[in-house]
Amino acid sequence: MRERLLAAEKIKAIEWRDGTLHLLDQRLLPLEETWRAYDSAVEVAGAIRDMVVRGAPAIGISAAYGVVLGARQRLAAGGDWRAALEEDFRALAGSRPTAVNLFWALDRMRERLARLKEGEDVLAALEAEAVGIHESDREANLTMAQLGVELIRKHSGNPQALLTHCNAGALATGGFGTALGVIRAAWLEGLVERVYADETRPWLQGARLTAWELVEEGVPVILNVDGAAAHLMKTKGVSWVIVGADRITADGDVANKIGTYQLAVVAMHHGVRFMVVAPSSTIDMSLQSGEEIPIEERDGRELLEIGGKRVAASVEAVNPVFDVTPADLIDAIVTERGVVERPNAAKMAELMSRKRLH
Ligand code: MRU
Repeated sequence: MRERLLAAEKIKAIEWRDGTLHLLDQRLLPLEETWRAYDSAVEVAGAIRDMVVRGAPAIGISAAYGVVLGARQRLAAGGDWRAALEEDFRALAGSRPTAVNLFWALDRMRERLARLKEGEDVLAALEAEAVGIHESDREANLTMAQLGVELIRKHSGNPQALLTHCNAGALATGGFGTALGVIRAAWLEGLVERVYADETRPWLQGARLTAWELVEEGVPVILNVDGAAAHLMKTKGVSWVIVGADRITADGDVANKIGTYQLAVVAMHHGVRFMVVAPSSTIDMSLQSGEEIPIEERDGRELLEIGGKRVAASVEAVNPVFDVTPADLIDAIVTERGVVERPNAAKMAELMSRKRLH
């Protein structure tokens, strides 16, 4: 299946070329495909904050390249470059709070710095680490896609109706996607009749990004408002909800795009299976439960305005952009280390003690 998956890999959001980070501006999709070039860590932090690049693995990968760019600037400036680079680490870490992949990637870069040997080429070492983070995310996507398909097939080998939320596709990762990776692979294996994509208010990752990715690849996708999910589960024979994750705790609680929690509640009510797909860089064993996950709140204008034009009455708006789905509402967490069904603390600890499968 790996070869077929690689052949289907068409969309990219991140490119490291000639020492510059290139990002596909996701704010403009699907109407415009504009690439932007970044040469400093501070600019990369701004791109993450402003959602030029978004999705947990993608922001981790971008932050890793940001450290390379920061180091290059700091080394060129001379003086105590290590101390100066700390400012870049701070800027990158301060860009968005919920997806732990960002902090995981920064830790990896910091550890690489700590392992530098006397006389070693700093930039070459950091660049290799960032490229390694990018490449291993791509590999993890492929492994998860295959594991997710096996899980779907275990319950039914017939073409099915699936539902997804937000965008956990190629645009959100270093490769093929997490939740959308499983959905793409399931399509290639004849297991998908149609995919319902929640539009994902307020930023419309589903309408703008997921629908675009699936249309580009010929997967039958139907867009729905977020509030239609329960109705679709009840009337359209949805068998699986498949989503990505921004942070998973030691107990198996999952932070993902706002609205994921209510999908899980509704899925349980309707007997629809609920699958979370995420690389182990999304698992934060330092947090026991979902209550400890910092939830990003963005500007209320994302709700009050559409396309910069005010549409709401003159009211205050609350805009938490992630929520936490408790482990007991989740049927399976699919990672590149393996699958955890009915997650709990013991199973998560066992998963994290395993090696990566590739
Ligand atoms: O605010 P975003 O667009 O960065 O949120 C993205 C999500 O919530 C995704 O579902 C999650 O990062 C998984 S991406 C593989």
